[in-house]
Amino acid sequence: MDLPVNYDEAQVPAYSLPDPLCLPDGTPVRDAASWHTRRAEILALFEQHVYGRTPSTPVEMHSELTAEEHGALGGTATRKEIALHFHGNGASATLHLLLYLPAARREPVPLFLGLNFYGNHSIHPDPGITLSTAWMRDSEEFGVRDQRATEASRGVRASRWPVERILARGYGLATAYYGDLDPDFDDGFQNGIHPLFYAPGQTRPAAGEWGAIGAWAWGLQRGLDVLAQDPAIDARRVAVLGHSRLGKAALWAGAQDPRFALVISNNSGCGGAALSRRRFGETVAHINTRFPHWFCANFHTYNGQEDRLPLDQHMLLALIAPRPLYVASAAQDLWADPRGEFLAALHADPVYRLLGTEGLPVAEMPPLDRPVMGRIGYHIRSGGHDITAYDWEQYLDFADRTLGGAFDAVDPRG
Ligand code: GCU
Repeated sequence: MDLPVNYDEAQVPAYSLPDPLCLPDGTPVRDAASWHTRRAEILALFEQHVYGRTPSTPVEMHSELTAEEHGALGGTATRKEIALHFHGNGASATLHLLLYLPAARREPVPLFLGLNFYGNHSIHPDPGITLSTAWMRDSEEFGVRDQRATEASRGVRASRWPVERILARGYGLATAYYGDLDPDFDDGFQNGIHPLFYAPGQTRPAAGEWGAIGAWAWGLQRGLDVLAQDPAIDARRVAVLGHSRLGKAALWAGAQDPRFALVISNNSGCGGAALSRRRFGETVAHINTRFPHWFCANFHTYNGQEDRLPLDQHMLLALIAPRPLYVASAAQDLWADPRGEFLAALHADPVYRLLGTEGLPVAEMPPLDRPVMGRIGYHIRSGGHDITAYDWEQYLDFADRTLGGAFDAVDPRG
């Protein structure tokens, strides 16, 4: 099925957004206490209608330090690899976390945590990184053959992960392959972590239960559980970030889990930071058709019916308030609707202001390559769908501003 795509601003339909600061009975939210009630309602709406609820079934988890090297990257870093083993319902899964910490620091460091698309070994040519053995989509370009990474896969995505720069700025970096949590294809939720949570007789998530994005977001949270136990890391200053589909997962993780002190969405688009009602570029119908396993089954009932949604993505961003939030777009990434990403940040701003923070410092979309940074940051970079050194420079600056001095001013846990 080839659904039409609108790239014409003049064709964006008229729409009205649900107000995050208005209770369903029309009562306005005027203070932080009533925001907390409203916040819980909005979170439940996203669970029910978009990403699906994460089952509360307990699964066993234990972590194992599988490798540690002081003096990695020419002596500038400590590299650790931690395997997170999950067991439940007779099934198991392992998330392999790769961690770099700056060697020079004595104090616990702030850190960026994000999932990667092609395995930990793809983020840097460092030969000490264990090559992933997980299922991976074949890619000539990235040396993935017969659905497995090869030695040729090392460092193929290094441009997206400026490890030395992050370390030099005093931050740690932790990452894991998203396919460890749920391989990214529609298999009816038989592989990945979903089966660990099934009730007796259950064979796939119920209509309001999580899809793949929910699983990736869950993995980010479990990553934080482990990182929080490492005395070399300041668990109160962990930023979660992601690009594209992994930006959607980062937002959903940050929205659910207030321990993430900063949330960064890089080109996350539809089902991420972009407003669904604009129907510009990728729409709800497009995404549910091409990626039927990403969201919960209930979300599919909104294909072509965005106005029926009891929420829009500005409310996802509002769930992060008053913690710092950065939304980044790219000029040529029209499929992700840069303007829709900006507008979602703008419409989350009233919640940030209600909670006593600056919010987004502008009311109009800034020019290309001119970042704006308040408690919400935003930029639109020239170029296409990617996460680049330029994007990272803004995230590092924003983290310095918001996780440094300003961090103590407002409790990020809200
Ligand atoms: C596709 C998809 C987007 C997604 C992107 C990515 O383009 O339609 O929603 O963000 O892949 O993850 O790179």
